[in-house]
Amino acid sequence: MPVKFRSGENIPLEMHKARMVQRLNLLPVEERLKASQEAGNNTFLLKNSDVFLDMLTDSGVNAMSQAQYAAMMNADDSYAGSETFYRLEEALKEVFGTKYFLPCHQGRACENIICQTFIKPGQTAIMNYHFTTTKAHIMRNGGTVVEIIKKEGLEVKSELPFKGDLDIERLKNEIKTIGAEKIAFIRVEAGTNLVGGQPVSMANMREVAKIAKDAGILSIYDASLLADNLYFIKTRDKDFANTSLNQITLELGSLFDMAYFSARKLGCVRGGGIITNREDLYNAMISLVPLYEGFLTYGGMSVREMEALAVGLRETLDFHVIEQTPIFVEALAKELLASGISVVTPPGGLGCHVNAMSFCDHIPQSEYRAGALAIAAYIAGGFRGMERGTISEVRNADGSEHFAEMELLRLALPKRVFTLSQIKYVADRLTWLYENRHLIGGLRFTFEPEVLRFFFGRLEPVSDWPQKLAKKFREDFGDSL
Ligand code: F0G
Repeated sequence: MPVKFRSGENIPLEMHKARMVQRLNLLPVEERLKASQEAGNNTFLLKNSDVFLDMLTDSGVNAMSQAQYAAMMNADDSYAGSETFYRLEEALKEVFGTKYFLPCHQGRACENIICQTFIKPGQTAIMNYHFTTTKAHIMRNGGTVVEIIKKEGLEVKSELPFKGDLDIERLKNEIKTIGAEKIAFIRVEAGTNLVGGQPVSMANMREVAKIAKDAGILSIYDASLLADNLYFIKTRDKDFANTSLNQITLELGSLFDMAYFSARKLGCVRGGGIITNREDLYNAMISLVPLYEGFLTYGGMSVREMEALAVGLRETLDFHVIEQTPIFVEALAKELLASGISVVTPPGGLGCHVNAMSFCDHIPQSEYRAGALAIAAYIAGGFRGMERGTISEVRNADGSEHFAEMELLRLALPKRVFTLSQIKYVADRLTWLYENRHLIGGLRFTFEPEVLRFFFGRLEPVSDWPQKLAKKFREDFGDSL
């Protein structure tokens, strides 16, 4: 909760206390340099024991509440017909108002089932913006992605409160040009992931859902980042200032033909699911759940996680639970902006997104600015973020590089995990890095997987710049870690 201090400053005060903690390790810079080399200069390949603050993602690593842990003890371990399933189904009904639920082991598993069922080769999926696994599943089933996010959504700096909104005129035009029958579905990702955790407004979602319905096109809502989006609907749209969070989620559940979510994000556990009110859609997908996930009453999830998810979903309707990530993102963004570092604004959810396009403007885009910044930040501070730029993209059909519209270093802020002093530490080390940014150089692939290359790809620096960076750190910080 932002509270005003005597100085007039707004401080993001934590509305929880830590009662179970994990010890952290901060390696000396020389060892961080060595760990970065062993990890092929890819933060995904670092061992977590070599990482001080793990800001790679919020996926599966959010802090759980004591009520969630307590619920885990109450799980019903049965293959079929588990009581746990019915409790979770009930929680989903209460939160979203949806009748049918297909459990899956995580978000991309939902995407697999949805895309196998609804994408026919040659069809298009329209969306505000893709997520990496979503696009991979669409392409695997012979489809293509068309993105129609408003132009401000791809601008680092903007005043627009809902930068994840779809461009309605473009949506109408795309439907006319492509033809409704060739459109597999319209997907709304709210909040967005790859473009800075930006929210989508309720007005926009209402309009998109109506257009889809009128054109007879399936509408799908990716609710993985619902918690942040709820916070922004509540705080940035005055029409919803007095609407309860449950009323908002109930409306979202009723707008779209179906929704799916990664419960690694929504509900702070490890799992996922597809929900709908349409029996025909449920029946079209049902047989793929036992084929890929597990029986219909667990879908690849542990029953303990399912119990915790039922609690976590209800806790998503608690403003103090959902506010902490956005207010910490804002706090980190403010510190970085004060140091002259460009970040995505207005600050969104999920994490703080540093603009590597300008931070590393001396590096050619073909040498992966955001990837280079991610590994330089690890060397400088022992914290790891995630490259969300060209490395996360897919090469063009002719093998040429597809340059990302934004080159971002995402510093994820898992819910209720980090403290304000840790945020200040990250800002301090990034400020040092910014002052020494001329030392950061480019990267090139030594091993490049064809699908989702950012996960296991290995890279090498184009020169000995990481050594020079580590040496300068030692000179400037003396004995300090
Ligand atoms: N949709 C969105 C919007 C996501 O952010 C994610 C995952 C998925 C789908 C896939 O879900 O991981 O459970 O299979 N985002 C994670 C991240 C991986 O780090 O941002 P999943």
